[in-house]
Amino acid sequence: MKRPIAMIAGTGHAVPRKCLTNHDFASIGVETSDEWIVERTGIRQRYIAGDGESLTSLSADAARIAMKAAGVTAPELDVIILGTASPDRLLPATAVEVQAALGATRAAAFDLSAACSGWVYGMQVAEGLMAMGNAETVLVIGAETLSRIVNWKDRNTCVLFGDGAGATVLKRSTKGRGILSAFMRSDGTLADLLQRSAGGSLRPVTPEIIEDGSNCISMQGREVFKNAVRSMAEACDRALDGAKLSAADIDLLIPHQANIRIIEATAKHAGMPLEKVYVNVDRYGNTSAASIPIALDEAMRAGRVKEGMTVMFVAFGAGFTWGSIVVKF
Ligand code: UT7
Repeated sequence: MKRPIAMIAGTGHAVPRKCLTNHDFASIGVETSDEWIVERTGIRQRYIAGDGESLTSLSADAARIAMKAAGVTAPELDVIILGTASPDRLLPATAVEVQAALGATRAAAFDLSAACSGWVYGMQVAEGLMAMGNAETVLVIGAETLSRIVNWKDRNTCVLFGDGAGATVLKRSTKGRGILSAFMRSDGTLADLLQRSAGGSLRPVTPEIIEDGSNCISMQGREVFKNAVRSMAEACDRALDGAKLSAADIDLLIPHQANIRIIEATAKHAGMPLEKVYVNVDRYGNTSAASIPIALDEAMRAGRVKEGMTVMFVAFGAGFTWGSIVVKF
């Protein structure tokens, strides 16, 4: 089947009320500094879910905004795909709770576990369902409440992550608009570099595990960094090749927002000047699967993405997983 098949008809995002700045870490006993965090990551603040806020509530809030922008009502949704690494419960999927919260009475719903690549993977699964005629209207959400699974005693990770949700409504393509190319890969030989080693069915939670924090996220930052730079470069090349485009044809690059240095290295490799790269890692931190759809929604509302523009999205995350899509708006 010939592309484009699926186009982005509306976007939305939501973040928790509470904002935690780099300066606030001192008050919770984390030995770090604004200077270190800004210099090594570019992050200045992040949002943290509080009482009454959950992956379901953030996802549903983002989805309602995206559906309004797309002119789509909940019963029109055929499928809800939620990319996340921090589901509200391990069983059932948070996507079904979002389905219930929205009143999406006709929708199938499932979570997609590809860590920070969750939205890019989800977009490709949605496109495939639409190509096969199994769906006409798909809601793809990337959302995280990582603050609830980070180890707040580990300064190597707790300063990096944030909570939030981004949502995208896909409809059948018109006027040549939509996904022009797509690429995804994984490498499970490197799974241990970024993981929650316990808390799953292999090593269920025990008091000892809670004590040593191995049910929380752990990361070998430097190794992850190197792989992120290499894999995001590959993903940019493959997405451009697939769309038969060059960097000069891309109006905006929206990369996963993990670290400003990774974003800059990716832009350099892709041959994209920084003015054509969307950056908000300073305000949200690394929101994993949510980072790209939050950035896209901001870019749309700021007028940085307009009809007729071509945008490249590139992601990398735990697994490792990585991928990219090029979209004509
Ligand atoms: O979402 C996709 C997956 N995630 C990523 O893509 C993240 C990839 N990795 C990174 O972004 C970076 O590797 C980090 C930001 C995590 C770390 O930056 P780095 O430049 O690679 O630093 P490092 O891990 O090599 O640590 C340098 C030093 C260490 O001290 P010593 O051993 O050199 O004395 C750390 O103990 O910085 C220390 N350090 C801190 N100091 C102050 C680590 N975390 C902190 C902190 N505050 N929060």
